[in-house]
Amino acid sequence: MIFVSLLRAVLVSTCLGSSVAQMVTQPQPEVSVQEADTVTLDCTYSTSDSDYYLLWYKQPPSGEMIFIIGQEAYKQQNATNGRYSVNFQKEAKSFRLRISDSQLEDAAKYFCA
Ligand SMILES: *[C@@H]1O[C@H](CO)[C@@H](O)[C@H](O)[C@H]1NC(C)=O
Repeated sequence: MIFVSLLRAVLVSTCLGSSVAQMVTQPQPEVSVQEADTVTLDCTYSTSDSDYYLLWYKQPPSGEMIFIIGQEAYKQQNATNGRYSVNFQKEAKSFRLRISDSQLEDAAKYFCA
């Protein structure tokens, strides 16, 4: 068993003072996953922009923030990065992270921004 703690972040990322994307917070409880399982983490957001960039970060117990995957809103394809992929639905403003083949090293907090 591994434990992946989840957190949906509230984040207003600012680029030279302009608000890029505004996230909705919905704290999620910790979920436990069997090794090798696939886990999906939800993130919903709000923004009035049509062009924006979404990210998932991982924060392992050691504390550093690690970028894992990014999605440009105009792209017609879901981004993938190794065992990570996203299910991005622009209309629904939903940006889910999918981790396949869970490993012990996946035990972390995950942030979307
Ligand atoms: C991502 O995948 C989901 C599920 O297959 C699909 O509904 C969605 O339209 C895809 N998003 C993009 C941007 O391709």
